[in-house]
Amino acid sequence: MATHADYNAQTTATEVAAAFADSVKGKNIVVTGISPASIGYTTVMALAAQAPANLVLASRTKSKLDAVADDVRKAHPDVQLHLVPLDLADMASVRAAAASITGKLDHIDVLINNAGISTPERLAAKTPNGTEVDGQFLTNHVGVFLWTALLLPLLRAAATSSASGTARIVNLTSQGHHLSPVRFSDYSFRRDPYDVPEDEKPRQEIPAFFLRLNDGYPGFLGYGQSKTANILHATELARRLKSNQKDGDTRISVFSVHPGTIETELSRSLDQEGQETIAKTAPAGLWKTQDQGAATTLVAALDPKLNEADVAGGATIGYLSDCQLRDDMVAAHAKGEDTAKRLWTETEKLLEFTVGL
Ligand SMILES: NC(=O)c1ccc[n+]([C@@H]2O[C@H](COP(=O)([O-])OP(=O)(O)OC[C@H]3O[C@@H](n4cnc5c(N)ncnc54)[C@H](OP(=O)(O)O)[C@@H]3O)[C@@H](O)[C@H]2O)c1
Repeated sequence: MATHADYNAQTTATEVAAAFADSVKGKNIVVTGISPASIGYTTVMALAAQAPANLVLASRTKSKLDAVADDVRKAHPDVQLHLVPLDLADMASVRAAAASITGKLDHIDVLINNAGISTPERLAAKTPNGTEVDGQFLTNHVGVFLWTALLLPLLRAAATSSASGTARIVNLTSQGHHLSPVRFSDYSFRRDPYDVPEDEKPRQEIPAFFLRLNDGYPGFLGYGQSKTANILHATELARRLKSNQKDGDTRISVFSVHPGTIETELSRSLDQEGQETIAKTAPAGLWKTQDQGAATTLVAALDPKLNEADVAGGATIGYLSDCQLRDDMVAAHAKGEDTAKRLWTETEKLLEFTVGL
């Protein structure tokens, strides 16, 4: 249960950050995916208004990062801002960005993994162990997995030594996760969408539009696979942290968030039909404003009551939508503990990297 039962789709990030100001004031907060027309913008503006000690903005396009930083500095000149170049599709960049933060901060209280892509185009990519994966999976999951693992020492430092003695990680996912399980046997969608083991197939009742192929590639399914991975990553990370009785790990909480349907640059590469289809996913055709679109992220990141949410024990999946915990909205393929464990070990293999949890 979150603190405010009355929060809903209309609640704004500005409101949430003010309500949980104590979770921001004097804290070190890292947010990825920052550009003027994105949810990242309102996320950091709302946070900056509540006097964090350090606010790190990590993203891939320097001009957009600079534009957002200018706005933050104009509105909140006292906030200590750090801009970090980060390309989640490039593991060397992920390592450099994490190292740069480690050189600037001695702890992180809140990590918000907001960056993400959605594209109908095939972005074929290779992981460090040479496996071909879908570029959406690489950016939205594999890069986020490595990035989070590399920042874990700083989150542990917050959990063991900062005033509150807790730390939070939030993964931005999407209701679009319903479109596809993780395709362990075909990460790159080279096969027909249904030519995979039963538990990796898209559901039969998916509207035909979402199965549309572009040069043989089903982009929406690719997005769905990556967003399912964001939920499984969060639940498995939570489980591993809670079962590690040292390093303050039991005081680090992890949540995943569906922000709603918000007009941002996420749909930038969709054609007219694609844009209209996404518009129809907004409940009653109502898009959230950007400020409303960042509200659920900030409840997940800041609400102290969520420290009691038992994600690791299985009492909740830790999935929030419209500012409330909503396990009922999670697809069966994003819930299983065995699948979550499998994704963890398979991602470690893809990265040739062991988290050590
Ligand atoms: N908008 C929605 O309706 C909606 C619905 C469900 C879930 N979400 C989720 O919400 C999150 C934010 O999306 P948004 O709607 O704000 O989309 P957006 O406007 O496209 O913003 C995404 C941000 O992530 C950055 N990014 C993309 N690829 C990156 C990479 N390889 N490395 C580092 N940063 C990267 C983008 O940078 P550039 O601008 O440089 O590309 C941008 O700043 C995403 O995780 C998305 O899946 C959004």
